[in-house]
Amino acid sequence: MDWPIIEKSGDFAVPPYLTDWEAARAAFDWQTEIDRLSKLPGGGLNLAVEAVDRHVAEGRGETVAMRWISRNQDSRRELTYAQLKEQTDRFAAALRHLGLKRGDTVAVMLNNLAELPIAALGTIKAGCVFCPLFAAFGPEPVRARLILGRARLLVTTEALYLRKIADLREDLTELDHVLLIGGSGQPPQGCLDFQATLNAASPEDGTVEATSPDDPAMLHFTSGTTGEPKGALHPQRSAAGIHATARMVLDLRPGDIFWCTADTGWVTGSIYKLLAPLLAGATGILYEGEFDPGAWYGVLRNEKVTVWYTTPTAVRMLMRFGAALPRTYRPLSLRLAFSVGEPLNPEAVIWARDALGLPFHDTWWQTETGCIALANFAVTTIKPGSMGRPVPGFEVALVERRPEGGLRFIEDAGIPGEIALKAGWPSMFSDYIGAHTRYEECFIDGWYLTGDLAKRDADGYFWFLGRADDVIKASGHLIGPFEVESALMDHPAVAEAGVIGKPDPVAHERVKAYVSLSHGFAAGEALRRELIAFARLRLGSALAPKELVFIDELPKTRSGKIMRRVLKARELGLPTGDLSGMDSDIRGTGV
Ligand code: WT7
Repeated sequence: MDWPIIEKSGDFAVPPYLTDWEAARAAFDWQTEIDRLSKLPGGGLNLAVEAVDRHVAEGRGETVAMRWISRNQDSRRELTYAQLKEQTDRFAAALRHLGLKRGDTVAVMLNNLAELPIAALGTIKAGCVFCPLFAAFGPEPVRARLILGRARLLVTTEALYLRKIADLREDLTELDHVLLIGGSGQPPQGCLDFQATLNAASPEDGTVEATSPDDPAMLHFTSGTTGEPKGALHPQRSAAGIHATARMVLDLRPGDIFWCTADTGWVTGSIYKLLAPLLAGATGILYEGEFDPGAWYGVLRNEKVTVWYTTPTAVRMLMRFGAALPRTYRPLSLRLAFSVGEPLNPEAVIWARDALGLPFHDTWWQTETGCIALANFAVTTIKPGSMGRPVPGFEVALVERRPEGGLRFIEDAGIPGEIALKAGWPSMFSDYIGAHTRYEECFIDGWYLTGDLAKRDADGYFWFLGRADDVIKASGHLIGPFEVESALMDHPAVAEAGVIGKPDPVAHERVKAYVSLSHGFAAGEALRRELIAFARLRLGSALAPKELVFIDELPKTRSGKIMRRVLKARELGLPTGDLSGMDSDIRGTGV
C-alpha cells in the first residue's frame, strides 16, 4: 500500500535554511559547533556546564530546567536552572570529597526521580563518567555492568540496593561508595544517605572540572550477539551532536516542555530525556509512572507538553486503546511528536495524525552514534514508514562488506545494504570500555558499520529492513541473546540454549528461548515454568524470555556455534536454505 507523504509547514524556530535539507548539509560543520561549546579556559568543554551553568550565566536561571511528576500526578517538583546548578555543584563537590577522581565511573540506577539529573550532571561536572543502569535489570546484568564499567560509586534507592546489590557487594571490589535515596534514613552498612551527603558538601568545592572535548563523559552499556555487554564511552564533545539534533531534528528551544519517555539506563534516557532539553534551554519532564494510556495522555495535557519523544511500542499500545481517548484529551499544546528504537509502522504515523492531530516523526540512531543520525525532521516532509534522511553533519552510506576486505558502496535506490556512517561526528562513541579490539572491529576504511540493513529511495530517505546480526529489540530495549543464554545455562537442567527475537505486533520482538536439557532431566510444563522464573530472577523482567520451548538438539555450525538464524527461520516458517552464509562469524558481523 502507498502511504500519503506528509508535507510539513508551520512556525519553526530552526533557521530558514533548514527547510532546505541540501543547503543545510552544505552549511553545516561539526568543528564550528564544537568550538562554539568549548568555552572553558584552555578550550575545555564540559557537557554539564553547557547544559546547566551556561543558562544561569546568560540570565535564564529562573527557567524551570526539569519538572518531576509523581506516579499519580498528584505531586510535582521543579528544579530551575539556578537550582540545578547549585545541586550539581554540590554533587560534584561530594564526589571529590569522597575521593573520586576525573575519569572515575559513577553508576546511577534510578527510575525517574528528581535526583536523577542532579546525579547525572553533577557526575559529568566533576569530570567523572556517568553510567546509567536500567532499574529493571536483575542482579546478574547489574553485576556484569558494574564490574566491566569499574564503577567506584553507585547512586540508587535503598529498595533497589537491598533487592539487587547488597548480596553482590563483596564481588564489587572497586565499588567504594553507595549513595542511597529514600528508605529508612539509616542506610545499610557500606552505604551513605544521598541527601545527607549532598547537604554536607560545600558547592564552593565543586568548581567545574575543565574537561577537554575528548574526555569521556558517559558510559552506556549495549549488547552484541556474542560475549559480554559492551560499554560504549561518549566524550564531552557529544554536547555538539546532542545540541545540534535537539535544534535541527526536534526543534527544541527555550519555552518548550519536552517529554522523552525513555527509561533511564539506556542511552535515550541520558541523551534525550536529560541532556537534549537542557542543552536547548527548554524544560524537561520526568514522569515517575510506567506506561498507562490514561496517565500518559494526562501528562501530555496537564503538563502542556509541546514536544514528545517516545517509542513505536508505546505508540502501538496507545493505538490499541483507540482514538477516542486522545481525541477527548487532545493535548493542544503538543506541536511535534517523535519516535525511536524500532521500526515505526506507517499506520502509526497516520493514526497519530488523526488521533493526536499530528504525525509521528521517526528517527534512527544507536548507542554508538550518541545522537540521532537519520530523521524525519520537524520541518521536512515525512514519508510514513521511512526513518528519514541524514542529519546535517552526518555522511550516511549503504555498503556491503567485501569478502576480500573493504567496502562496496551501494549508490542505486532500492538496493539493500548495511548502514555505515563516516567516522568523526562529535558524539560518536570513543571506545568500548576494556574492549578496544571490539571497538576497532566496528570500523572499516574510516566508516562505522552499524549492523542495520536498509535501503534508500531516490529522494535519499532511508527505509529500515532489519538487523544484520542476532540482537533482539523488545519494547525498544536492545537485548544480547548471549546474556540470556548464559543465564539459562546456569540452571542444572539446561544443557544448551538458543535465544531469538520472535516478531511481536506491539513490542516489535519478544525474547524466546530454545532449550535442550541435560541428561536426566525431562521436559515438562513444571520445568518450563521453573526455567522462566529462574531467568527472571537473574536477569530481571526486561531481559528474561517470555517464551521457552524444549528442543532435542540446537542447530549448530561446524565449529559448534548455535545458529540462532535457523531457529528464527523455523519460527517464521521460512526455509532454512543455504546455511553456510548464516553464521555471523562468516558474515563478519559477530561483534
Ligand atoms: C538499534 C539501536 C533508539 C536509539 C537508542 C537506542 C534499532 C533504532 C530505529 C528506527 C528501526 C531502529 C536499530 C538500531 N533502531 N531506531 N527508527 N527504526 N530500527 O539504541 O539500544 O543501541 O539500539 O535500534 O536496530 O541499530 P540501541
